[in-house]
Amino acid sequence: MVAFGASGDLVRRKLLPALFHLYRQKLLHKGFVLLGYARTPMSDIEFRNQARDAVRTHLTEEYGIEFDTHAWDDFASGLFYQTGSYDERSSFDALALRVAELDAALPTQSNHLFYLATPPNVFEPITALLADAGLSSPHKTGWTRLIVEKPFGHDLPSAQRLNDHLLHIFQEEQIYRIDHYLGKETVQNILVFRFGNGIFEPIWNRNYVDHVQITVSESLGVGTRGGYYDKSGAIRDMVQNHVMQLVALTAMEPPVSYDAESVRNQKVNVLRSIRPIDPLDVNKWVVRAQYTEGTADGEEIPGYLESEGIPLLSTTETYVAWKLEIDNWRWNGVPFYLRTGKALPTKVTEVNIMFRRPPLMFFNSHAARSPRVRNSLTLRIQPDESIILSFDAKRPGLQLDVEPVSMDFVYNRAFGDSAISDAYERLLLDAMLGDSTLFIRRDETELAWDRVTNVLDGWALQDELIRRRGRALALPQYAAGTWGPPESDELLAHDGHHWHEPVFGGAR
Ligand code: BG6
Repeated sequence: MVAFGASGDLVRRKLLPALFHLYRQKLLHKGFVLLGYARTPMSDIEFRNQARDAVRTHLTEEYGIEFDTHAWDDFASGLFYQTGSYDERSSFDALALRVAELDAALPTQSNHLFYLATPPNVFEPITALLADAGLSSPHKTGWTRLIVEKPFGHDLPSAQRLNDHLLHIFQEEQIYRIDHYLGKETVQNILVFRFGNGIFEPIWNRNYVDHVQITVSESLGVGTRGGYYDKSGAIRDMVQNHVMQLVALTAMEPPVSYDAESVRNQKVNVLRSIRPIDPLDVNKWVVRAQYTEGTADGEEIPGYLESEGIPLLSTTETYVAWKLEIDNWRWNGVPFYLRTGKALPTKVTEVNIMFRRPPLMFFNSHAARSPRVRNSLTLRIQPDESIILSFDAKRPGLQLDVEPVSMDFVYNRAFGDSAISDAYERLLLDAMLGDSTLFIRRDETELAWDRVTNVLDGWALQDELIRRRGRALALPQYAAGTWGPPESDELLAHDGHHWHEPVFGGAR
């Protein structure tokens, strides 16, 4: 494996701990070698030392296991480093020589996995130079694959250009576009839950489901990532990829089998069925907002505009709520409400299936008194990974009082504390095994960008109008530590709904 951007954060925080954990479980091939590549000059030994420090710090955090020096020394003997630039042919010729040397010295079988863990502005030069140096096509005895990190483009045209460029050099089967949400156990379990059981699928449609809510909230603000985040915003950073993938898995039809093409064909069908919005109508469907100073999850957070690296008058959104319609037989008339943001009250990702009410509600129940409660199924993706079914029960007593209760399945109760492995571990292993089921195909990324680009166009039009009227641009605001602006509640209230508040600790 050749990791570009090897001196960066992703390699240190995610890839190295994941590889070491795979090694500890004997899941790495004995010929596995990691060649780190970056501009920072470093020797193999320095890279190994840096890697050891990173793994020592992050292993317990990510995997809950202790660092084992003996195993590390063995693993580290397969780590190498190559200093080079991202846009000079000579660096890539030197890389090709180094790869050939390692192939000759070690049992790599000449299988090559290139990982683009760099900022996206060098994706194109790196891959073009890989081709020039003869590294893009499979060696005659092995395979060659490419993992591409996000962001994959910043709108539809740029994603199409990047795809065109990559497909000029690699075959689609060689390209693994990563979305780390697909590596999460609980995200994979959406398919097992839906299609591995006979009891839920018959009610998973417009006849029984009133609406669906997907919340991906984070309590941290932008922190020190302002430089990246301000060019991106919540819709590019989270919705185009992670949230759209959750929509696709929740809404898709059963695939004919569990293989990469069948699963991705069905996801693509969902994305195609998402009703495109007219940019002129954007406010009817999508709310954007920015956080101001406040306290979230016990942490004091400065306002977005006061954060490091954020321009004074930035109009980048840190919050998005979107009402999405899926025009197909299963979901017609069932809105999917999506929301994601930074500096919200807590970090939680969940999919809530909100069921229709019974036709008559004649019990003296909490639900009957308050139209706010309905049967729901919560797929809690993180944290406290679980599945919770909420329904009404008779409260014991001589009166006929009804109260909402719940049944739940909690991962660590059922499978133990270390049941949830890190997403990168799964994805790295799959890429090495040649299984692209949990990676994004070209058409998926472009369809998601297509729907998101309509929203971006709508916002750009709005901003332009405001500017022409000589007014200052300003987004709706929410204080850090609250669930977004009032406009987001109004989006649902308009349809007689409200956001489902995540409840922790099992029964509610
Ligand atoms: C990344 C985004 O893709 O996902 C970050 O760039 C975000 O802004 C992160 O914090 C969230 O991932 P997770 O796995 O912590 O939910």
